[in-house]
Amino acid sequence: MINFNNFKNRFVLILVISMATAMISNGVYAESPNTFNRLMKKKPEHNLPPVKDGIHDPEGEGTLVLQPPKEAFSNLVKSKAGNYVDWVKSLKQGKISPRYDRLDPKAKPIIMDLNIVREVKGSMPDVVYPHAQHTEWLDCSNCHPAIFIPQKGANQISMASILLGQKCGVCHGKVAFPVTAKTCRTCHSKPKKKRKVVKTKAKK
Ligand code: HEC
Ligand code: HEC
Ligand code: HEC
Repeated sequence: MINFNNFKNRFVLILVISMATAMISNGVYAESPNTFNRLMKKKPEHNLPPVKDGIHDPEGEGTLVLQPPKEAFSNLVKSKAGNYVDWVKSLKQGKISPRYDRLDPKAKPIIMDLNIVREVKGSMPDVVYPHAQHTEWLDCSNCHPAIFIPQKGANQISMASILLGQKCGVCHGKVAFPVTAKTCRTCHSKPKKKRKVVKTKAKK
């Protein structure tokens, strides 16, 4: 039996429940008949054409003019979640060349190559936040100072806040890859140092 009076177990239970709730409310499992039975889960359709995506007005004239995402994305590097495009690799391989500034076609990003490691208590690998991959798309002011104080360790970040759409969740799950079982390791990418196992022979 798992003892939920134990603080750690209770914490994990709350975390799992809050993640599941967020995934359901994000529509990850919305279509499935039984959210906890993987065998019964119907794979939700993704990247639907604009007429069917529930975002665009199906009756609007412009909606039919829009290129369907499946067609637009067909040439890009694939990923395992979200809209199933690895945008960072697609950019790196030159499959897309987005404008950095809406008005100035010549504006170039200032890329800052600084990784911030956030240590995570427990068994999950530590989180590496990479400035480089973010500043390829974003301006410093998109995050500093409103979302994050620019000082290592000055911000309190938790999975709960991310799933509630705060901190990293201001973008991840909305305009950047979401939190799903397939993306944990994209953020939690730095394995913990292995603890030394001292082997001692049992006395006979
Ligand atoms: C997508 C969000 C995001 C963007 C964009 C971003 N940063 Fe950061 N930045 C962070 C996070 C997260 C941290 C870590 C804060 C923490 O550990 O509490 C951080 C930390 C920093 C730090 C502190 C480093 C240290 O060692 O204390 C500086 C300085 C900084 N950023 C500068 C910049 C500059 C300059 C830019 C633009 C070129 C930029 N950041 C763009 C999210 C961002
Ligand atoms: C968008 C990046 C991102 C993704 C994806 C992500 N995490 Fe996290 N996770 C974080 C950050 C940032 C923290 C806070 C680390 C710290 O303490 O500074 C964190 C913290 C945690 C913690 C420590 C307790 C807590 O709630 O803060 C656990 C456990 C955890 N994550 C599990 C997971 C699991 C399981 C997944 C996949 C379902 C996942 N994470 C996906 C960024 C992410
Ligand atoms: C202002 C928006 C924004 C915020 C806030 C933000 N990200 Fe991101 N992040 C992006 C975008 C955009 C990308 C690139 C598109 C994608 O991969 O989905 C990205 C990509 C990433 C990647 C993938 C890098 C790669 O090499 O593929 C990681 C890891 C990541 N973010 C972690 C984090 C963590 C951890 C936090 C919080 C500390 C965070 N991000 C906060 C927008 C954001």
